[in-house]
Amino acid sequence: MTISIAHNLARHTRRFTIALALLTLALAQFGPLSSKSFAASDDDSELLKAAQEFSNSALAKQKNCITCHTIGENGGTVGPILNQISNRRTEEWLRKWFSDPNSLKPGTKMPNFGFSPAELDDLIKHLTKMKRTINSEEILAANSDPIVAGGELFKAYDCLGCHRIGDEGRFVGPNLTWVGMRKSQEWEATWLADPPAYKPGTFMPNFHLKPNEIEALTAFLHSQQGQANDKARKWESMTSFILDARPRERGRLVAERVACWSCHGEGLTGGIKNPNAKPDELVPNISSASLDLAEEVLRGIILNGKAAEKLDPAGAEPPFSCPSWKKALTDSELDDLLAYLESIVPESELWEFE
Ligand code: HEC
Ligand code: HEC
Ligand code: HEC
Repeated sequence: MTISIAHNLARHTRRFTIALALLTLALAQFGPLSSKSFAASDDDSELLKAAQEFSNSALAKQKNCITCHTIGENGGTVGPILNQISNRRTEEWLRKWFSDPNSLKPGTKMPNFGFSPAELDDLIKHLTKMKRTINSEEILAANSDPIVAGGELFKAYDCLGCHRIGDEGRFVGPNLTWVGMRKSQEWEATWLADPPAYKPGTFMPNFHLKPNEIEALTAFLHSQQGQANDKARKWESMTSFILDARPRERGRLVAERVACWSCHGEGLTGGIKNPNAKPDELVPNISSASLDLAEEVLRGIILNGKAAEKLDPAGAEPPFSCPSWKKALTDSELDDLLAYLESIVPESELWEFE
């Protein structure tokens, strides 16, 4: 009995992933996500030309890159927007990525196409041209409000190529609609200065930002305290309507909007560093929380938050506790979130009941 439940859950989750991929693809071609992905400024036309040339190349067409990526003004939403790829990745990184995506991001949906050396050179030739000249001093000088300047830099660096705010952007990095509530500005600054140094193996690139850019960007990030929540909600309800989503599938969209994984890690299986927090100085694995905790306890933690317990009572306060999500969730969204948490309990945990 329990075994068949476990199997059903896993099957539905997988089916939903496929449905969501198809849906986001459809929305990208016809819907609100097809809006321009560039900051409206300076040298868009050069960038757009390089991107369009790549999109029209024989190789990109043959491998159908745009089913998953937006290149130029069109394409899918499964992967990052590629227009400014060379603002964030080196040639060396790109060669490694195309030779074996899975070695840089285990479990990635990006296929290994097995490019020949000549194809790889051709690809690199196109991608290295897809780079924006960003004049950050000008942006900073033109905007005295750091939140506004940070918002302009956020656009200029195309952070929405991977992240989402409201109903804009992509799904590769955590949704930033609520980032200002869950992270401090100091932490964001540490993170932006060098993500892979902070979390080895992370897919977030190092943009080699200057301190004054980081200051503005974090002011902008910190201002994101759920103002775009209604837009995100609208997008979700449209998605749910089209998918005729069940509670756990709606709950998954809710979990992605508030980005539980930005602390608890991918699949909620264990996340970022949390010095002096019990038991292992990491934000904990909560993938089996719905099995380990009584439902009322779980509801309480999500609504009211939970302070991290200190490992060394005399030591410093751990930087992260579980925030209270009361402001972000309606009653029915909380129900959906619980259904989602139930659906991600690893099969190995459920098998124990055999
Ligand atoms: C089936 C979907 C899919 C296809 C087809 C696909 N990609 Fe990707 N690609 C992804 C995903 C998803 C990622 C991001 C990694 C992740 O989240 O797993 C990615 C990442 C990338 C990245 C790194 C992006 C960044 O911002 O660092 C590059 C470059 C890239 N793909 C290029 C291509 C090219 C060129 C093609 C066609 C030859 C292609 N991809 C085809 C799904 C796809
Ligand atoms: C190639 C995709 C990609 C791009 C482009 C990207 N990020 Fe990220 N970002 C990620 C991923 C993936 C994570 C999650 C890191 C992890 O836990 O491994 C992340 C995490 C973050 C976080 C912390 C997590 C949170 O939400 O609480 C912040 C803040 C952030 N990114 C800001 C930015 C900013 C600002 C830019 C533009 C300058 C940017 N990112 C561009 C992929 C990206
Ligand atoms: C700012 C980082 C952060 C975010 C975002 C976050 N959490 Fe937490 N969460 C924590 C920390 C730290 C703990 C550990 C508290 C402790 O020591 O008991 C925790 C603990 C928990 C626990 C208790 C685990 C246990 O076994 O006692 C649950 C359940 C939980 N989080 C659920 C969630 C859900 C659901 C979300 C998204 C709605 C979320 N968290 C988002 C940081 C975060």
